[in-house]
Amino acid sequence: MMQETVHLTQEELDSLIALLTQRTGIIPRSSHLEGIKNYIEKKLTEKGLSVPEYKTKLFVDGGLFSELINESTVNETYFFREEKQFILLRDRILPMWKATAGSMPVKIWSAACSYGEEAYSLALLAKSCGVNAMITASDINSQVLEHCRAGVFKDSSIRSVDGSSFKNLLMPYQKEGKIQFGSEIRNCITTREINLSKIDEMQTEALLPKNQNIVFLRNVFIYFSQNLRLKILNSIAEKCLADGGVLFVSMNETAQINFNEISPLLEKVMDGSIFYFKKKSPEVKANG
Ligand SMILES: C[S@@+](CC[C@H](N)C(=O)[O-])C[C@H]1O[C@@H](n2cnc3c(N)ncnc32)[C@H](O)[C@@H]1O
Repeated sequence: MMQETVHLTQEELDSLIALLTQRTGIIPRSSHLEGIKNYIEKKLTEKGLSVPEYKTKLFVDGGLFSELINESTVNETYFFREEKQFILLRDRILPMWKATAGSMPVKIWSAACSYGEEAYSLALLAKSCGVNAMITASDINSQVLEHCRAGVFKDSSIRSVDGSSFKNLLMPYQKEGKIQFGSEIRNCITTREINLSKIDEMQTEALLPKNQNIVFLRNVFIYFSQNLRLKILNSIAEKCLADGGVLFVSMNETAQINFNEISPLLEKVMDGSIFYFKKKSPEVKANG
């Protein structure tokens, strides 16, 4: 017998979105709601579930919730996105690291890495600067992390304008419409499923990369509330950044940060047109 197609009422959709926001911090944009609604209706129809049954299942079936999360995230990304930040790393931050730390690997966290273009851009850049790098790439979406581990990308992950200063670094890996990284680059990158909205919970804390010298936390704040953005920034400052470590948000996102409530551990740095946070070193902290 054909299963009758389920249609969600606005109230049912709102309650499911509230559940999603509570568990992930994600507040979907209105343009994205239709896609989430279609996915849930299809799922309920396929499985023959009512909305209350689906909700109960979401609590006990981690796989089902992961699927909903994977459907609800926006994963737009590309190589060397916002290249000015990479230029700053190339010209100032990585050379300084090399001069002071020598062959010690720089620890980098690409938080909310999506498919991984950001993490691979960082790996290529560090290599080109003669710096060893240990990179953690994390995301809430388990599917994008699989893609990141595989290290194969479409040519469309390279944009013609933004990022073009670094095209030469990608060239050796380009073949037949694809960019394919071998183990020497892939091995610099470890993936982890981390839900940033639960950064304060013990289970998540255990997964957080510690003592990081560089953190990229870009293009993920747009989905979060003001309070959650602050909680994530301040927790990263406290738990994940090494003294003197730097944290980049997207240049489009700085306006979404309430600077009055930022942790006193974080100093705001402006280098030309590039803004980033720096974790104060102990002597600076002592002097306020
Ligand atoms: C637009 S992509 C940004 C990718 C990359 N950082 C960049 O700037 O190109 C946003 C990513 O944030 C992830 N995300 C959304 N909510 C998250 C959460 N609560 N914890 C961790 N990652 C999350 C999504 O899965 C998505 O891959």
